[in-house]
Amino acid sequence: MAVDREDQPGPPADHQARLLFIIDTAMDAFITVDESQRVVMFNKAAEKMFGVPATEALWGPLERFIPKRSREVHAEHIRRFGRTGVTNRDMGHLGVIHGLRADGTEFPIEASISQATVDGHKFYTVIIRDISERLRLEQALQHAQKMESIGRLAGGVAHDFNNLLMAIFNYLALASRRLEASHPARGALAHVQEAADRAAALTRQLLAFARKQETKQRALCPREVVVNMEPMLRRLLGEQVQLRTALAPETGTVKADGPQLEQVIMNLAVNARDAMPRGGTITIETANVTLDEAYCRTRGGATPGEHVVISVTDTGEGMSPEVLSHLFEPFFTTKPPGKGTGLGLATSHGIIRQASGHIAVYSELGRGTSARVYLPRLTEAEAGGKETVLVVEDSALVRDLTAESLRGAGYTVLSAASSAEAIRASNAHGGTIDLLVTDVVLPDMNGVQLAKELTKERPEMRVIYMSGYTEETVEEHGVEPSRMPFLAKPFTMDLLLRMVREVLDSKASE
Ligand SMILES: Nc1ncnc2c1ncn2[C@@H]1O[C@H](COP(=O)(O)OP(=O)(O)O)[C@@H](O)[C@H]1O
Ligand SMILES: [Mg+2]
Repeated sequence: MAVDREDQPGPPADHQARLLFIIDTAMDAFITVDESQRVVMFNKAAEKMFGVPATEALWGPLERFIPKRSREVHAEHIRRFGRTGVTNRDMGHLGVIHGLRADGTEFPIEASISQATVDGHKFYTVIIRDISERLRLEQALQHAQKMESIGRLAGGVAHDFNNLLMAIFNYLALASRRLEASHPARGALAHVQEAADRAAALTRQLLAFARKQETKQRALCPREVVVNMEPMLRRLLGEQVQLRTALAPETGTVKADGPQLEQVIMNLAVNARDAMPRGGTITIETANVTLDEAYCRTRGGATPGEHVVISVTDTGEGMSPEVLSHLFEPFFTTKPPGKGTGLGLATSHGIIRQASGHIAVYSELGRGTSARVYLPRLTEAEAGGKETVLVVEDSALVRDLTAESLRGAGYTVLSAASSAEAIRASNAHGGTIDLLVTDVVLPDMNGVQLAKELTKERPEMRVIYMSGYTEETVEEHGVEPSRMPFLAKPFTMDLLLRMVREVLDSKASE
C-alpha cells in the first residue's frame, strides 16, 4: 500500500506554512515588531498570554503589552540592543519585568530579543515566557520551608517548656499543701498558679501549631457550623460587640475537619473583636461563589471553580498594608504581650490549606476588615448523605467503625449498644431517623423486634440488618436475607455505604 505523506497528520509540508505552524504551537509568545515598534507578527501563545486576538494586535504598537511604568526602560533596552546586539533572557538588570494583559492585569515574564534584517529593514522578535506559575511555586516552597522550620523550633521549645511547667505545677501543689490556709503567701501562690496556667495554654497552642495536625475531614455544611457556634460566639464576643449572621440557605457542602473549621472561625471572630475595642458589629456570612481564572491568578493557592465562602467582617480599626503583608506569619502580632500570640492566622492558614482552600483578607485602615475563607464546594454526589442513620451494635469496635464511615460520608449518625439504648436515642431525637442499621442478635430485644418497635413511631424509617451468624440463625430471628437488606459480617465499609445509599434511594423513588 502506498503511503501518501500529505495525508499524515502533523506539520504541513510547505516550508513557509511549517514555520508558521511551529511558531503557532510554541508555548512561548512570539511577537515581531518593525523598526517603528509596530507589531508585524503575533503568534497563538501571544494571543492567549495577552488576551488579544492577532487581528487586533497586528500593526498596533508593542507598547500596549508593557505596563506604563516600564515603557521607557523597555524602549531604552531596545535602543541599546539595536546598537550592541546584546540581550539576556531574564533581562536580570531590569529586575522582574511584567507584561500587561488586555484586561489591565500584569504578569511576570522572562523575555529575549533577537534581530533580523530583511530587505534592508530591521525586525525585532521578542520571545516571552509567562513565569507567574514558576514564581508562585518558588514562593510557596519558600513559605512552606519557613513554616516548617519555625514549626520545628516552636515544637521543640514547647516540649522543653512543658517539662519545666510540670515541675512548676508539682512544686506549686506541694507548697500549697504545706502552707496553712491562712498563710499570707497563699495569695502570691495563687497568682503563680494563674500565670502557669496561662503558660500551659500557650504551650498547648504552640504544640497545636507545630504538629502536623491529624485531620478528620468529612463533608459538612459551613452554614450549620456557624449556626451551631452562634451561642458560643455571642458569649465569647461580649456585649460591646453585635454579632450578625447572613447565611445563604443554599450554602453548599465542603470537605473539612469540623472542630478545626470552628477553630478558624473563632480565631477570625476574636481578631474582629480585638480590632473593635470600643465595640462595633461583626457579620458572619456564608454563601456559594464561583472563582474564575482571573481571580485565582491574583491569589496563590486558589483554584478556579465552585466554592463556599465564609466571611467574617468587622467595623474595626483595619490594618495598614504593612500589617497586611505579615498577617499569616507565625508569631506576627501587634497586640501587647499576654493578649496576642500571633498564631491565630498562621494556624488558620494551615488548617484551610489542608482542606484545599485559602483565606483572603481585605482591610481598610480605620474602616474595618473582612476575612474570607474559601473552600472548594462538593458536588451533590461528593457531598454524600444528608440523612440520619441510627446504628445499633453491641460490639464497640464494629459500632464505631460503622458510625465513623457513615459520618465520613456525610450522614448524621446516632449510635446505640443495645435495643434499650436505641429506643432511648430514638425518643430523644427530635428530627427524622431515615434508616436503622442494626445487628440481629443483641443483648436484649433482637434487631427485628427493635425495628418493629421503632417503626411504630417512625413508619418511614428503613432498616438494614447485619449479622455474623449463619443465614439459618438469622432466619430464626425473623430476618430473610434474600428479601431484606442484609449485611453479612465481616463486610467492607464500601459495601455498607453502597447498601445504605441504595436503601435510602429506593425509599425516595417510591
Ligand atoms: N480583623 C482584624 N482587624 C485588624 N487587625 C487584624 C485583624 N485580624 C488580624 N489582625 C492583625 O493581625 C495580627 C495577627 O493576628 P493573629 O495571627 O490572629 O494573631 P494575634 O491575634 O494573636 O495577634 C494581629 O495582631 C492584628 O494586628
Ligand atoms: Mg488572633
